[in-house]
Amino acid sequence: MIPVITGDDMGVQQAAQALLAGRLVAIPTETVYGLAALASDDDAVASLYAAKQRPEFNPLIVHVIGADSARELTDWPEIADALTQAFWPGPLTLVLPKKAGAPVSELATAGLDTVAVRSPAHPVSRAVIALTGPLVAPSANRSGYLSPTTASDVAKNFSDEIALILDHGATRHGVESTVLAITSDEITLLRPGPIALCELEGAIGRAITRRTDMQKPLSPGQTLQHYAPKRAKLRLNADGPKAREAYLGFGPGPWSVLNLSPNQDLTEAAANLFSYLRALDDAGYANIAVAQIPNEGLGEAINDRLRRAAGEHS
Ligand code: TXA
Ligand code: MG
Repeated sequence: MIPVITGDDMGVQQAAQALLAGRLVAIPTETVYGLAALASDDDAVASLYAAKQRPEFNPLIVHVIGADSARELTDWPEIADALTQAFWPGPLTLVLPKKAGAPVSELATAGLDTVAVRSPAHPVSRAVIALTGPLVAPSANRSGYLSPTTASDVAKNFSDEIALILDHGATRHGVESTVLAITSDEITLLRPGPIALCELEGAIGRAITRRTDMQKPLSPGQTLQHYAPKRAKLRLNADGPKAREAYLGFGPGPWSVLNLSPNQDLTEAAANLFSYLRALDDAGYANIAVAQIPNEGLGEAINDRLRRAAGEHS
C-alpha cells in the first residue's frame, strides 16, 4: 500500500524530501493528479517512465513555479509573456525551444529540442515545487488509461514504485491542461483543455492553428490511444442506450446510469468525465454509450478525450 498523506504543511515537506531523494510522488494539480519526479534527475525520470509504462518517445511537462523559472529552461518568446500573464498559474502548457544546457533530463524531453512548461495553480503542487524546483509530472495513471482525479484513483494504479500520494480531494477541472506549441512563425493547439481556444486567441489577438495533421505529430502523445477505460468499449454521440449498454448522459433524459451534467454544464461534465468512465468500467459494463457533448469551449477538450477513449484519433 502506498502511503496517502494529507496535503498540509507536513505532507508537503515529506513529499519534497522524497522527491529530492529521487523518489516519485503523486501530487494534486487543478487539472488531474500528476506523478512527479525532479526534472533534473535522470534516474528519477527513468523510474517515472518505468512506473507509468510510458513509451520513452513521449515527453513530459516540466512544472515550474512561474514564468521566471520557465525562462531559465527555455528560449522565451515575447508572445509567451502575454499568454502567461493571462493564464499562469493555471491549466496552460507551453511547448517552447529548450535552452541549451537547461537542467532538464534528456529523457524528460524525449531528446527533442523543445520542452513543455506549465505553472500549476493548485496550492499543494505549488508548495511542493517551491521546495523542490521544477518537477516533471505526467498524469498519475498507467500510460494509455484514464487520468486520475482523486488520490484513491492513483492508489489503485500503482504500488511501491511511488513513495507517497499527497491527497487534496478531487481535482477541479478534471481534464488535462491545454497544450500550445510556439515556434517562430506559428502557435499551434496540440491538446484542447480547460482554457478554450477562443480565450487564448482573445488574450494574444492572434489566430492559433488547430493541430489536425496527425501524420506529422508535433506532440508525440497525440498518436497514442489515450484515456481509455480498462475493459469497456465506448459508443459516442448516442441518443440513448442500446441493449446491454450503460448510458453516460449529458442534460435531462431518462436513461442515464450516470449523468455528466444534468444541467448541461460543461465545467461540471469535464470534472466528472474520467471518474464516471472509471466508475462504469469498474462496475463491469462492457459497453458504454455516451451522450452528445456540444463541441464548444470546454466541450472540445471533453470530445477530444472521448474520441481517444473510444480508440479514434482526432
Ligand atoms: O494537466 C496536465 O497537463 C497534467 C497535470 C498533471 O499537470 N499533466 C499531463 O501530462 O497531462 P501528460 O504527460 O499526461 O501529457 C503531456 C502531453 C503529452 O501529450 C505529450 O506528448 C505533450 O504533452 N508534450 C510534452 N512535451 C512535449 C514537447 N516537447 N513537444 C510536444 N509535446 C509535448
Ligand atoms: Mg496523461
